[in-house]
Amino acid sequence: MAIFLDTGKMDEIKKYNEMGIIRGVTTNPTILVKDGVTGGMKGVKDRSIEIAELIYPLPLSVEVTSNETERMLDQAVEFSKWAENINVKITIHGPNGELDNLKVINELEQKRDVRINVTAMMSAQQCLLAAMAGASYVSIFGGRVNNMGYDSREEISKLRFLLDDFNLKSKIIVGSTREVINVVEWLHSGAHIVTCTPKFIEGMIVHPYTKETVQMFLRDGKNFE
Ligand code: E4P
Repeated sequence: MAIFLDTGKMDEIKKYNEMGIIRGVTTNPTILVKDGVTGGMKGVKDRSIEIAELIYPLPLSVEVTSNETERMLDQAVEFSKWAENINVKITIHGPNGELDNLKVINELEQKRDVRINVTAMMSAQQCLLAAMAGASYVSIFGGRVNNMGYDSREEISKLRFLLDDFNLKSKIIVGSTREVINVVEWLHSGAHIVTCTPKFIEGMIVHPYTKETVQMFLRDGKNFE
């Protein structure tokens, strides 16, 4: 089980990597825009290589920017050459439900030796088929699942059972974290990995009663300084 950081910010990645508590980083085009990456594809390449080198040998996910088959194939192969710990995110289907992506995913994993993280999934059934297509990672967006009125924990535990039962290699990444409690509850439900922004990790660490206790120790410790 592991926690990944869902960010493109170097200072955040450095900070939590130095604590030894993260096991990888995930990004997507929306995160990179929000985190100030500019300069077109050169900007994406530079930031991705910088992150990949900083966290090596931990994995970094970088998402393709097109849903056109040849472009996805070209980008995936190119991104995977930027650094050996980069895997490539591709959505389960196109913007209007086009079905070409699983073929692309299968080809990249089986024939072109590129590790794929299939993303933007909202159900166990989507993830199962992505896993069958050969994905190294299957990303389900737990917060968005909950927002639609389904219990993300049930989808995750169903999915974990299916992957284990079918003996599929894919690791489940749960993202779209909305509350601190999601991290542990999703891992407990069967996720191999939860990816989240730093505020949720800080929320897991800091407790008001711990603060008060530390203050007490430091106050009383002054008697011995
Ligand atoms: C996961 O890999 C995604 O990058 C991310 O968690 C999506 O989260 P959102 O629903 O907050 O956009």
